[in-house]
Amino acid sequence: MSKAYYIGTFIHSLTLTTLEIVEHGTICVSNGIIQSIQRMGEDYTESDSTLPPFALLQKLGHDNNNNNASQLTIRVIPKNHFLFPGLIDTHIHASQYPNLGIFGKTTLLEWLNKYTFPLEASLTDPAKAKRVYTQCVQRSLRNGTTTAAYYATQSARSTNILTDVVVGLGQRGFVGRCAMDSDLQPKWYRDASPEAAAKDTSACVEYCKEADRSGRVRGIVTPRFAPSCSRDTLSHLGRLLAEGEEEGLLCQTHISENKNEVELVKQLFPECSSYAQVYDAHGLLTSRTVLAHAVHLTEEEIALVRSRGCGVSHCPTSNMALGSGNLWVRHLLDKGVKVGLGTDISGGYDVNVLEAARMACLVSRGVAEGGKGEESKISVEEALWLATRGGAEVLGLERKVGGLEVGMAWDVILVGADQVPADQDGEDAEKMLNGVVHHEGKHTKIGGKVDFFGWESWEEKVAKWLFSGDDRNVRAVWVGGELVCRK
Ligand code: GUN
Ligand code: FE
Repeated sequence: MSKAYYIGTFIHSLTLTTLEIVEHGTICVSNGIIQSIQRMGEDYTESDSTLPPFALLQKLGHDNNNNNASQLTIRVIPKNHFLFPGLIDTHIHASQYPNLGIFGKTTLLEWLNKYTFPLEASLTDPAKAKRVYTQCVQRSLRNGTTTAAYYATQSARSTNILTDVVVGLGQRGFVGRCAMDSDLQPKWYRDASPEAAAKDTSACVEYCKEADRSGRVRGIVTPRFAPSCSRDTLSHLGRLLAEGEEEGLLCQTHISENKNEVELVKQLFPECSSYAQVYDAHGLLTSRTVLAHAVHLTEEEIALVRSRGCGVSHCPTSNMALGSGNLWVRHLLDKGVKVGLGTDISGGYDVNVLEAARMACLVSRGVAEGGKGEESKISVEEALWLATRGGAEVLGLERKVGGLEVGMAWDVILVGADQVPADQDGEDAEKMLNGVVHHEGKHTKIGGKVDFFGWESWEEKVAKWLFSGDDRNVRAVWVGGELVCRK
């Protein structure tokens, strides 16, 4: 049995509006699950916290005498660093990774045809698919995403390559093949029939079960979006979703992202009273459904989405880039809809969930200024809740990940920044600017643009990380207790 202790500062969301900041804590992790958490001030004193690690553990009643030393790890969190739950990306197209930043002035429907479908279709080349997916998943992990809900492409083979990559790199997540058989799709990039769409979707879900027997990586039913799918395909996928209820099979799709898209859905499905109702009529709105964007939902649609228990993936980076609109996220939260964050690359231009989190803050200020009022603003605490606990709820993983609690998986990131030297003329100051810092006993090139001066409170440090942090501030990443990225 492997066992690890983490000693130092940890921070996580307790509620939507509150972070728990534990300046000194001791967390015991065994077989990837948090076994115990002890906090200075509750379980031990400040002077205990200065004891050498073994002495502290002994004082706290951890008898490790029988533990094989080679399987016991003790990690002391350095100064200006803290443990934080891994970030959760509830909506990401791995297949679009090479197109980050390439969107010009297009909006959704033009963007799909001009940039997105050609790239996705080209990933039927397995070597290209593997190269793209590997880079995407590695970047996602390095930015601190421990769980991701991926879209691959229409091709089952290419989708299964993504599954292999996610499993191989140790991320937790979901991998979906895009079902899409309608005339909206170019002839060279679509499913041959509704039956083929259903069969390939099932095959990809089954492939995941074989590729990862632990269930860390799972298949997910993925009708690309209503305009891409025939009625029969939507019905087939609704049936698959119902059949998968017991095993907790999830579904993901896009909804009401862009006004032209909403109009198109009205024309394509005149028998349905709304976009949400198109999905509902085909059994696709469930408590296991993740709806990306949801920018232009009507009040009736919000009520329907809420009553079915669906989650919403808020993708503000993408919504800004493609000019889709500003989601009034406060309203969804007030109505009791589950909300998490999505990078939605390459609609979004950054694979970092932190970018989505700060964009959620900024967009909410625009929404507030636009007439929805001060209370619409999203705070630092709320953005970080959305990036962790909110995402976990949306993906049905709220008991497993998103917080630091006994019984939860050790899906955690080590966040840190470097302190500006006291002497700006010295050698250390230049080293720091160049990202060469003393870290864990050696000089490493990590750096980052978050500068701690040493006088900030932990709340201030967290805010500085949220708004200026990038992958350089994520200094280790664990998923299920395994170190999957270390710098
Ligand atoms: N709607 C249908 N497909 C897509 C996609 O790939 N990205 C985004 N943002 N919206 C979509
Ligand atoms: Fe998307």
